[in-house]
Amino acid sequence: MVETISLVDGVVKMLDQTKLPREVVYIDCKDYLMVAKGIKDLWIRGAPAIGIAASMGIAIGANTITASSYDEFMKGLEPIFNTLLETRPTAVNIQWAVERTKKLLDERKDESIDSLKAFLTEEAQRVLTADIEINKTIGKFGAQFIKEGDTVITHCNAGSLATGGYGTATGPIRAAHEQGKNIQVYADETRPVLQGARLTSWELMQDNIPVTLITDNSAGAILRKGEIQLAIVGTDRTVANGDVANKIGTYSLAVLCKENGVPFYVAAPLSSIDFAIPTGDLIPIEERGPEEVTHIFEAHIAPEGVKVRNIAFDVTPAKYITGIITEKGVFKPEDLHKINDPNTDLESIMLKV
Ligand code: MRU
Repeated sequence: MVETISLVDGVVKMLDQTKLPREVVYIDCKDYLMVAKGIKDLWIRGAPAIGIAASMGIAIGANTITASSYDEFMKGLEPIFNTLLETRPTAVNIQWAVERTKKLLDERKDESIDSLKAFLTEEAQRVLTADIEINKTIGKFGAQFIKEGDTVITHCNAGSLATGGYGTATGPIRAAHEQGKNIQVYADETRPVLQGARLTSWELMQDNIPVTLITDNSAGAILRKGEIQLAIVGTDRTVANGDVANKIGTYSLAVLCKENGVPFYVAAPLSSIDFAIPTGDLIPIEERGPEEVTHIFEAHIAPEGVKVRNIAFDVTPAKYITGIITEKGVFKPEDLHKINDPNTDLESIMLKV
């Protein structure tokens, strides 16, 4: 499994995913501004991975703050938090990283500034290692729905490259493969940034998991032939009523799955669930520049000056979703809000085969 991101000696090392699969190049981000640029320009992408990058950016940014009190230190962190929060609006994971940092620092108000700085670096490392463990747990819960001989369709890249490692949507796929099940994956190419073609198919091939790349508009035809048994996708922000924001095209795939009687699962670590937002209509949706649509790598594929709309994410309403696979278990979208309630008996609402 290729390493997506690491923090070594105060430097955030990011795999530049814009160059994959043609080149495997790492970029050294020596300050938080470069981490923010890396997130905005998609050197690193995928909700959990940008949450990890934000935690690392906060840690290296904090090291440069000169402060003699806790309040001064927090003031110094403000521009770092704001710059990171402004990079990409849809994935909740950057917000998650910032809020978590604030809460953890608030619990350590009496410690020295040096010890807070050291704590933030350790915390960023913990976020990375915990993410891999969370994905393995998601993998274990999700693999039960993948049977021997099944073909799974996925959209975008919710794999190792989108996380600290192992992947969310690829978690159940990897776990089923490790259990010795003979399975196949169809990867949607995922226009316009081609995360499926460039990233998902590449990382699954690296790990010898059988994968077939298809154009996004082939999914309906293949589903209709009955050649796909289930879909598993990731999420950038899943909200309290079970609506799911994910890469543009996820909604179309979910509708096609419903029409063809194919179960549609969403792999969602708790860090990607925003219980504060009641419905998907309130999720901020990122729109990006036209070049991602008019160009593929350096090649211009559209007339010069054509008007372009490049919506990066869509919202899939809960009614199209069979189950949400979290590290706490698999739940119906309408039960998701209950998992936050300490009085809920999770076993009683968990989906099982
Ligand atoms: O624009 P991207 O590549 O950051 O979009 C990524 C996705 O939509 C993923 O499916 C999502 O972040 C989940 S990653 C585990």
